[in-house]
Amino acid sequence: MVSGGNASSLPLVGGKPEPTIKELSSPGRRASNFPKLDVPEVKINHESLKKEKARLPEVSEHDLVMHYSRLAHRNFAVDLGFYPLGSCTMKYNPRFADSIASDSRFANIHPSMPEEFTQGCLKVMYEIGNYLCEITGMDYASFQPPAGASGELTGLLIIKKYLEINNLINKTEIIVPDSAHGTNPASARMAGFTVVEVETDARGMVNIEKLKEIVNENTAGLMLTNPNTGGLFEEEILTISQIIHNAGGLLYYDGANLNAIVGTSRPGDMGFDIVHSNLHKTFATPHGGGGPGSGPVAVKEFLKDYLPGPIAENKDRKYNWYQPENSIGRMHGYHGNFLVTLRALVYMKLLGKEGLDTLGAYAVLNARYLSSKVSKIIPLAYDEPCMHEFVTSVKDLKKSHKIKAYDVGKALLDKGFHSPTIYFPLIVPEALMFEPTETQSKETLDDLADSLKSIISDLQQEDIVLEDYPKNLPVGRPNELIPAKFLTVNWGDFELLEITE
Ligand SMILES: Cc1ncc(COP(=O)(O)O)c(C=O)c1O
Repeated sequence: MVSGGNASSLPLVGGKPEPTIKELSSPGRRASNFPKLDVPEVKINHESLKKEKARLPEVSEHDLVMHYSRLAHRNFAVDLGFYPLGSCTMKYNPRFADSIASDSRFANIHPSMPEEFTQGCLKVMYEIGNYLCEITGMDYASFQPPAGASGELTGLLIIKKYLEINNLINKTEIIVPDSAHGTNPASARMAGFTVVEVETDARGMVNIEKLKEIVNENTAGLMLTNPNTGGLFEEEILTISQIIHNAGGLLYYDGANLNAIVGTSRPGDMGFDIVHSNLHKTFATPHGGGGPGSGPVAVKEFLKDYLPGPIAENKDRKYNWYQPENSIGRMHGYHGNFLVTLRALVYMKLLGKEGLDTLGAYAVLNARYLSSKVSKIIPLAYDEPCMHEFVTSVKDLKKSHKIKAYDVGKALLDKGFHSPTIYFPLIVPEALMFEPTETQSKETLDDLADSLKSIISDLQQEDIVLEDYPKNLPVGRPNELIPAKFLTVNWGDFELLEITE
């Protein structure tokens, strides 16, 4: 199942190889004790009750804590090292925002509490809505979507509802560039649209001529990421938005890369009607892929009635929730992930206008500095000035030395770096996509470039076995296919799987 890696580098525990939780188990041991029963015991007799006891590990609280702490320490994290994962933007989450979000006056509030007792929380939601609209050039925002992909679906459902209400049901096609994040076409499809792909040109931008050919009276809209997934600012963005609007379509801005342009340009000014932003990427909140994150959607005035609610408003010096008139409904329970949204507001206030205006510039500066060094080691996919991230390709090394993007990513782990994103965007063969973010120092960027240089030189040696990398980590190359195809979370089944392997 696993090749490469060095199992002998696993830390010993009490002089022995690290035990599994099952091996730690001892009958009768408990991590918690309940008080003695002081009410009559009730026996439940029901056919659906299990006949035998669940075979759960029986461990003490300390053993349990040590076990999971050991596992956690084997993980790579933003707080442990450089995580240059392009497009996913793994950036530092300031402790100050955490400390505010942990304050019991925010953390322990039940979302059903009446408005008169939660005016502070409503103010948080109201203020961040205003800030986000100011930053994106939009008019109204909803914080219901729990992640970027959910924001996309929200935006697409808004377009759908708008078309239905305006009797434009012939408009069934959503145009998506071939460089887009996979969630874009998936969201368009989930919302019931037909996805039409537009090609990227040799410079890494939307091919305008092809776009003109594709647009027709059935065009419902375009989803565009800007800066795009190649890390490039779409130079013809105004022409693109004109083409779509002239055909009566709506413009959806995938604002996952807002961190590159915050403070310098706004999707609303580029003509876009809807934008989602991934709060974790721009406003340094924890990331929750599809889960406990926040992917708010902001729209222009004419779409405000379709937003998912509740949305905070301020009327007669009192904050309250309202549900937009023709809302597409809810994308999440209650008010979205409130504590994540709160962290983003704290980050905005911490940086202030001046800080937010320069955030994007630093992200771009770091990426350009790193790309100038990396491009001397592996060629860039597009020879254009990058924004906050850049894409390289090892397709030539694959031809000459069989070195794949996967091998480079694995070898970087040995040097204490997380791998950059590999094989994305799909249109770049053997892609490695780097995103340093604004918080990395020049020294860290230099270290990455130096490590990359030595790795590429090592991997070209005749006597090496590419599959041996990473060499110094407890886990080498787990088989990623088997767990994806045959997910099993049961210990017994796992053993069985290992044997059949
Ligand atoms: C360009 C782009 N769009 C959309 C998404 C989806 O965002 P999320 O992971 O928050 O669902 C991502 C995620 O990294 C992205 O990079």
